[in-house]
Amino acid sequence: MLVVEHIHEMQKWSEEQRLQGRRIVLVPTMGFLHQGHLSLIREGRKSGDRLVVSVFVNPTQFGPCEDIASYPSDFERDRGLLEREEVDIIFRPSSRAVYPEGYQTAVEVERLGRTLCGAYRPGHFRGVAVVVLKLFNIVQPHVAVFGLKDYQQFIIVSRLIEDLNLNINMVAVPIVRDPDGLAVSSRNYYLTQEERKAALCLQRALGRAENWVRQGERDGRKITNQVIAEITSEPLARVEYVQLCDLKSLEVIESLHDEALLALAVWFGKARLIDNIILKAEM
Ligand code: PAJ
Repeated sequence: MLVVEHIHEMQKWSEEQRLQGRRIVLVPTMGFLHQGHLSLIREGRKSGDRLVVSVFVNPTQFGPCEDIASYPSDFERDRGLLEREEVDIIFRPSSRAVYPEGYQTAVEVERLGRTLCGAYRPGHFRGVAVVVLKLFNIVQPHVAVFGLKDYQQFIIVSRLIEDLNLNINMVAVPIVRDPDGLAVSSRNYYLTQEERKAALCLQRALGRAENWVRQGERDGRKITNQVIAEITSEPLARVEYVQLCDLKSLEVIESLHDEALLALAVWFGKARLIDNIILKAEM
């Protein structure tokens, strides 16, 4: 396994692999790897011949008051995990290399980037779009793997690929949860024991929503209000949003017809957790 820090070296390696007819798979991450990331990597393995994992805590997707300085990292641990997964390359550029002095280009997926998390984290998805496009240009993958825990991010990157005619296949990987149901996340690291226990209300509330739909509930507002009530019965939870929306446009849905995304963001202490479920009218 190689650790590549320089952009040109990464590009040169990818060009050589492409000339040899190898299919390159990219799994973009911000490091501090967990089972969710490993699930993407294992899925990625099946989709091509060479596997690249990027580890880069992207400053442009963090707001001025957000947690970049305290974002957890442990590269030696990540390196060990990736070695065991038989990853070919860890691409780990510096911030300076990705955003050199004078950098000024923006990439914006407009409407999709302003709803759900985008409404509360202005500029976040602009930062995601730019770094993902840069990673695509540097690594030149045939396949890119993303997790459905960040459903909105998956849809935005899919849109970017289509809108800008990038020749990349997206692979989506289902949410990986701890045995107690909490979606695995680097941000769970910020939770105290008490908050972690409280955060189980998210999976419980999403599960209840699934049951209400099974029992015939179709009213979007009623479903989201019930989910909010369930979550706020947990005193440590502060709801940012709970929304039922269209799977592709992410626009709010008044009433459930076939399938819809129920997505939420909730704070527990210093940790902002997101989770989601796809609700199906016919279950
Ligand atoms: P990061 O939060 O490190 O996540 C990297 C990838 O892992 C994303 O595609 C995310 O959806 C996926 N992932 C995280 N937790 C998961 C879980 N519990 N189950 C399944 N997949 C999970 O997302 C980012 O980094 C960044 O925004 C990035 C795309 C790297 C751009 O900077």
